[in-house]
Amino acid sequence: MVSFLDKLPRRKFDAIVVGAGGAGMRCSLQLSQAGLSVVVLSKVFPTRSHTVAAQGGISASLGNMSEDDWYWHMYDTIKGSDWLGDQDAIEFMCREAPNAVYELEHFGMPFDRNSDGTIYQRPFGGHTANFGEKPVQRACAVADRTGHALLHTLYQRNVALKTQFFVEWMALDILQDNSGNVVGVIALEIETGEFYILEAKATVIATGGSGRIWAASTNAFINTGDGLGMAARSGIPLQDMEFWQFHPTGVAGAGVLITEGVRGEGGILLNKDGERFMERYAPTLKDLAPRDFVSRSMDQEIKEGRGCGSDGNHVLLKLDHLGFDIINRRLPSIREIAIKFGNVDPVKEPIPVVPTIHYQMGGIPTNLNGQVLSRKYGEDEIVNGLYAIGECSAVSVHGANRLGTNSLLDLIVFGRSTGQFIIKTLRDKNNIFGLSPSNHTIEKSIERLNKLESRSSGEKVQNFGDDLRLSMQHYCGVFRTSCLLNEGVKKIEELAKKYEYVYFQDKSKIFNTARIEALELANMIEVARATIKSAAARTESRGAHALNDYPDRDDKNWLKHTLWYSEGGILDYKPVNMNPLRVKSFPPKVRTF
Ligand code: FUM
Repeated sequence: MVSFLDKLPRRKFDAIVVGAGGAGMRCSLQLSQAGLSVVVLSKVFPTRSHTVAAQGGISASLGNMSEDDWYWHMYDTIKGSDWLGDQDAIEFMCREAPNAVYELEHFGMPFDRNSDGTIYQRPFGGHTANFGEKPVQRACAVADRTGHALLHTLYQRNVALKTQFFVEWMALDILQDNSGNVVGVIALEIETGEFYILEAKATVIATGGSGRIWAASTNAFINTGDGLGMAARSGIPLQDMEFWQFHPTGVAGAGVLITEGVRGEGGILLNKDGERFMERYAPTLKDLAPRDFVSRSMDQEIKEGRGCGSDGNHVLLKLDHLGFDIINRRLPSIREIAIKFGNVDPVKEPIPVVPTIHYQMGGIPTNLNGQVLSRKYGEDEIVNGLYAIGECSAVSVHGANRLGTNSLLDLIVFGRSTGQFIIKTLRDKNNIFGLSPSNHTIEKSIERLNKLESRSSGEKVQNFGDDLRLSMQHYCGVFRTSCLLNEGVKKIEELAKKYEYVYFQDKSKIFNTARIEALELANMIEVARATIKSAAARTESRGAHALNDYPDRDDKNWLKHTLWYSEGGILDYKPVNMNPLRVKSFPPKVRTF
């Protein structure tokens, strides 16, 4: 008799990449170049992946504007991370950065140029020369559309190499064989509503961030933590999820990103008294201190009554003094965004801005090869066949706070190195298990989906989503308190239980967006649970995790990574890697700017 499982359509590949952002497409490019059969799954057309929204630049110590050094970049990244970043991974990324950027240049990425033909670089938050002495211009830019240029470049290269794209497909769960090796995913073709079993020797999660768990976010609507949800349901821990970056300059009331490149080009933040308040908080780097620092300073100004507007709920970003020419040439999209979303023309007036959720520092733990790590008996354990790269991963180069423009760099460096590692692994036949997914993992996933599909009453998808987003905004903001976080843990756990009653009315299969939203919410709730529980447990302030009742960093007790397990909501910890690969380490010190 032909069983239900036998009827599910199956496809086989060497590698599956879930997500067509910068990390996914840099990895798939490497794999296709090596002649492997690779498919990239994407919920949206690849060039609409969220990397497209990255504005200001990609960091690399090219030294085109003044002297620079990858070791200074490494120091800035470690200090920016508030010493929670792993120093081996940070060394690797900063060393590789110049070559990664030159490679993009050779792929045809249209960087802005200096008059001598070299790549133009602008200052960005926390990037300094000589270990914090003065700002340095390290962000390689394509006007204020660097992510857009990067993504289109990678897409074109992939198309040329015949990478297959499954567009408007959503991966639902990771599939394992009987020995626990990852051998593919179960996925939904959104257009038809059909489920498929996709089998592969290597499965790469590159699903980006999950910033849509907050009500106000610079993230695209697709950023719902799908990869994190899949990993969490498979028993893989999520690392350092308490660390979320608020970008200082989201357009007030709209959340749309205004690049830090504005301040890099000379824009300044003002309070209602017209004071350039960052001079008080960060005397050396001022408006270009790292983001956690600037966001907290803005929040402080607003809380102490120096906010602007009739409600005193934002500050102003002034850039009119840069002049029409610079704004038009270097920041054209910012002008458009300010006019459309802020109702001001920045050539004449300042832009109202507030700190807005932007980036998830934590994610699926990996080693430098992108291999996903679980942990047993105090030791890391590799999950065979599974890789994670980009914002959904924690390798960990950003620690407790990411430096601006290190995100695009992370995508490219680890997308490439993971691709290289997979090629090497697949060439060594001994490393290929290549078995089929066990019936058990498929059935588990189908059962989860069937439950959701069959409910016809309960908690409406949209109400549930709003409740989740508003709760995260309320309980887990720029400044946190233990009391609010503990209340937040209860609230989010209640919501997790309520998810068991979520339903959507329209049962049609074809392009059913309510169905997609319900599936996304299963992932978002895992991310929210991990975030709030990890945050409530960390009784110190470090990087983006600022706790009013524990205002200091506590290296004695908390210089360690958090691991959160979905089953039982259990927390575990592991040491930060303070040992770089080839150079001297940077021991923790007080973080001033
Ligand atoms: O401000 C920006 O342009 C954002 C860059 C980043 O998040 O790295």
